[in-house]
Amino acid sequence: MIHNSTIDSQTNHKSIRKFKDQTLTRDQLETLYTVFQHTPTSMFMQNASLLHITDEAKRAKIRELCNQKYVGAEGDLFIFVVDLYRNYQIRKQLGKDDGRVHTTDIFFQAVEDTMLAVQNVANAVESMGLGYVDLGTVNDHPLEMLKTLDLPKLTFPILGLQVGIPDQKPQLKPRLPLEFTCFENEYNKDFDVKELKDYDQVVTTYYDLRDFCWDVFYFS
Ligand SMILES: Cc1cc2nc3c(=O)[nH]c(=O)nc-3n(C[C@H](O)[C@H](O)[C@H](O)COP(=O)(O)O)c2cc1C
Repeated sequence: MIHNSTIDSQTNHKSIRKFKDQTLTRDQLETLYTVFQHTPTSMFMQNASLLHITDEAKRAKIRELCNQKYVGAEGDLFIFVVDLYRNYQIRKQLGKDDGRVHTTDIFFQAVEDTMLAVQNVANAVESMGLGYVDLGTVNDHPLEMLKTLDLPKLTFPILGLQVGIPDQKPQLKPRLPLEFTCFENEYNKDFDVKELKDYDQVVTTYYDLRDFCWDVFYFS
């Protein structure tokens, strides 16, 4: 296995759910925006947008909707938005058709763009010695979330990131053995669940050793 700072950071990734009471510097924020901007984008459509939520009332409402106490608490909260509205508006103002924004393939392109941007930014966060947790719970109450964020039609928030200086040192969380997830040429349809016995034991030990906290246990 090859080691360098990027790979070591990726293979040591741990979600962080407790942050120091400090926000990003202007420099760090601009860096994350620039990383976001340079993420690969399907057909050069740039169908992703990023919201940095600094308004306390909005953060509190988002925390309530996500029902996780670390959301919008210490650190910085970002919401990644699948965005077909911008291109729709550009085309409309130029007197063009809607650019097929209502088709499934364009929808998936936008989702792909946005998810890649999430991980690109997340990697940059860790490379700066900071931590993050993904927030799928931004979609637990989609209509209320859209209202809270005052987003237009043809957009939706797909994932959040809570980012900051880690105030905890979680253990590395185990993953399925590579034989179960990475294949050469042929997908293994016929695995036997018994082959996962060792993995089950590793996961059980991981949870046994972990500081118990319902909030964290439930969501992770
Ligand atoms: C799409 C996605 C959504 C997630 N949503 C949440 C979430 O809402 N709250 C949370 O605490 N963790 C969330 N996580 C973090 C996962 O629980 C975590 O990545 C997983 O348990 C593995 O742990 P690790 O990241 O520490 O290796 C999410 C992760 C992903 C990829």
